[in-house]
Amino acid sequence: MRDKKMGLKGKKILITGGLGFIGSNLAHRCLKLGAKVTIYDNLDPNSGGNLYNIIDVKNDVEIRYHDILNFDRLTECIIDKDIVFNCAASTSHPYSMKEPWLNLDVNGRGVINLLEASRRFNPDARFVHIGTTTQIGKLHYQPADENHPEYPSDIYSANKSSSEKYALIYGVAHKLPVTVVRLPNVFGPRAAIHSSEFTFNNYFVGLALQGRDITIYGTGEQKRNVLYVDDAVEALIKTSLNDSTIGETYFAVADNHYSVADIAKLTAEHMGGKAKFIEWPSERKAIDIGDAIISNAKFKKAVSWEPKITLIEGLKLTKKYYEKILDKYF
Ligand SMILES: NC(=O)c1ccc[n+]([C@@H]2O[C@H](COP(=O)([O-])OP(=O)(O)OC[C@H]3O[C@@H](n4cnc5c(N)ncnc54)[C@H](O)[C@@H]3O)[C@@H](O)[C@H]2O)c1
Repeated sequence: MRDKKMGLKGKKILITGGLGFIGSNLAHRCLKLGAKVTIYDNLDPNSGGNLYNIIDVKNDVEIRYHDILNFDRLTECIIDKDIVFNCAASTSHPYSMKEPWLNLDVNGRGVINLLEASRRFNPDARFVHIGTTTQIGKLHYQPADENHPEYPSDIYSANKSSSEKYALIYGVAHKLPVTVVRLPNVFGPRAAIHSSEFTFNNYFVGLALQGRDITIYGTGEQKRNVLYVDDAVEALIKTSLNDSTIGETYFAVADNHYSVADIAKLTAEHMGGKAKFIEWPSERKAIDIGDAIISNAKFKKAVSWEPKITLIEGLKLTKKYYEKILDKYF
């Protein structure tokens, strides 16, 4: 049984995808809490990883520049860890529609590799897998909860849906201490803000900070759940320290929902640029999920977690992070 009173102090932690947005913020927080952090990341050019994300802690973490498809390398890294946070993924929804094989490899086989390495060589390691709210696709009821059926509308979300099931299967069949935390649109420092291939809200941040038009497809009325990255990180850490969450799936989402148009307008107001409505590109319209109104009730109850940072506070903190180092993200 893991010693929860100790928190993360002295714990050996593997963060796959630790050069990416969420993984690097998680690495910073784990280091602050006294953990020994190993990052495992191949800096995939089609995902949002960035070496600059760990510039200030690069001498405090061990970094392994490998692919999660490399089972032997993964095994070497997993063998002595107390906790594995799986933040590695091929994260672009549109790219998954153009290169479905690559997405399947990383988000499917890569997760099996991690689970199988854990099962064979370190079955006691706590395993926190990140899922996505987009796994459920267009909502059948609101707010959606963890019992909502999954009808993903793009290949990335479909592969995240099946890899979540892989994790849960290993939990039941092989008794791995696994939890799945599904996140919504996360925003904040260290995100890839240069390209519309990644999350729309972080792309809005990039456009705003360059003083450019923030382009909204259609009327932008669809509602989104946006969570500040520190709250997402806190959700992942609390999960890892709470054994009652083992075998469960949760939505760790924000309390409030905003329309895409309002997110654009608030981003412009607090960062720069101006909101502009444009026609839907057909390939984007085809994978849009409409409103994403989701409940965090199950997760809040399980781990006493509360999202603390509002959208506006988060935008201000995000601006502060990027404004002097914008070139590092373009
Ligand atoms: N950002 C969001 O809004 C959001 C929302 C829901 C779920 N998620 C999930 O959270 C996790 C982290 O997402 P993120 O936003 O930090 O993405 P990101 O693209 O910033 O980071 C992903 C990292 O994974 C690495 N990676 C990709 N393929 C790899 C491979 N084959 N081997 C090793 N490393 C590899 C990349 O180099 C990158 O550093 C992912 O599982 C993603 O699906 C993110």
